[in-house]
Amino acid sequence: MKKIAVIGSGTMGSGIAQVAATAGCSVKLYDTNQEALSRSKAALENTLSKLVEKGKIDETEKSRIQNATSYVSTLKDLSDSDLVIEAIVENLEIKRKVFSELETLVSAQTVLASNTSSLSIASIAASCQKPERVIGIHFFNPAPLMQLVEVIPAVQTSDAVVQKITQTISDWKKVVAVAKDTPGFIVNRVARPFYSEALRIYEEGFADFATIDWSMKTIGGFRMGPFELMDFIGHDVNYTVTETVFTSFYFDPRYKPSFTQKRLTEAGFLGRKSGRGFYNYSEEMPKPTEDLTLAKTIFERVIVMLINEAADALFLNIASAKDIDNAMTKGVNYPKGLLAWADELGINWCVEKLDELYNEYHEDRYRCSPVLRKMNRENKVFEV
Ligand code: NAI
Repeated sequence: MKKIAVIGSGTMGSGIAQVAATAGCSVKLYDTNQEALSRSKAALENTLSKLVEKGKIDETEKSRIQNATSYVSTLKDLSDSDLVIEAIVENLEIKRKVFSELETLVSAQTVLASNTSSLSIASIAASCQKPERVIGIHFFNPAPLMQLVEVIPAVQTSDAVVQKITQTISDWKKVVAVAKDTPGFIVNRVARPFYSEALRIYEEGFADFATIDWSMKTIGGFRMGPFELMDFIGHDVNYTVTETVFTSFYFDPRYKPSFTQKRLTEAGFLGRKSGRGFYNYSEEMPKPTEDLTLAKTIFERVIVMLINEAADALFLNIASAKDIDNAMTKGVNYPKGLLAWADELGINWCVEKLDELYNEYHEDRYRCSPVLRKMNRENKVFEV
């Protein structure tokens, strides 16, 4: 697949275009907004110049990537593409409209993909006459730097298209994780407890957020603590993902959003981008309580909830064990895969810890995944 088109030249579309052009494809970027196209072109020049300065690429390679990228202002210009990746606004009706129009312009062999984070691929595919050529290709931000790409076949997608896309994305030097078309795919589902359990610990008054962040970094080796990360992502975005996952799972209490985070978004304390979230970036940062015993208790509670979520994703065949672990290390930079972590801590320890939490709270969010219980009974390990 050499002729690639990207619809939407915002944050994700521009990054995806750069990845494809770098890999040797010719890329057409289309946006309804002319300014967005100009911004994307300027951003590519800026990014590539920095790579030249750092010695990562030379001037010839920079020119090659720029010459391989063109900026077009009609959908019709994309008609000769092998693969079209849509990265426009996250709105199902708008995406469906673009897909059904696009299909009338391209050849019968063109694969149509969406970079959606939260919408069902089946519902996007259903807007097409040939839904078997529609697939989800979910990049992470920033696309040129993050190694992971989730590939999501819809119930309508043909096996040939899944194979072709898996090969193409691997050729672009990305790590592919194939995920079932379910809310949050892999990463946005499995990562929920990192935020929700940390928020819960904070809401209970067990520890302040600086201490929780310190614990996850010191004991767990995470690059950022949950509160730093939520502030970085932005509470509007992070809260919306949690709320979408919660409603999409028919209100499973395991994904229940937090009032603390909701109030922050209502107050306009959106995180780093607004100067204040959990932390106030114009003031001195609060000091954590550097108590290793407390830190270990906090870490254990969050990690066991993450492991439970990863195990349950495996139990429900959302992805393979290898893809679940790759997704978390390559998509969100976790220091270890969660299933490998479960083996290290011991399946028996995980089950006991979850049962301890369940017995304490009697809340469904702490229910242990059947797969962990079964493995514990049978003395098995994940061996990812
Ligand atoms: P963005 O707002 O930066 O860019 C969207 C672009 O699409 C804009 O330039 C807009 O002018 C253009 N656009 C809107 N409607 C259009 C249409 N009908 N035809 C052509 N162009 C149109 O958005 P962003 O953040 O790049 O997200 C794009 C998609 O990628 C969304 O579906 C989002 O959920 C998904 N995504 C976002 C991630 C992120 O971290 N920002 C990560 C992974 C996926």
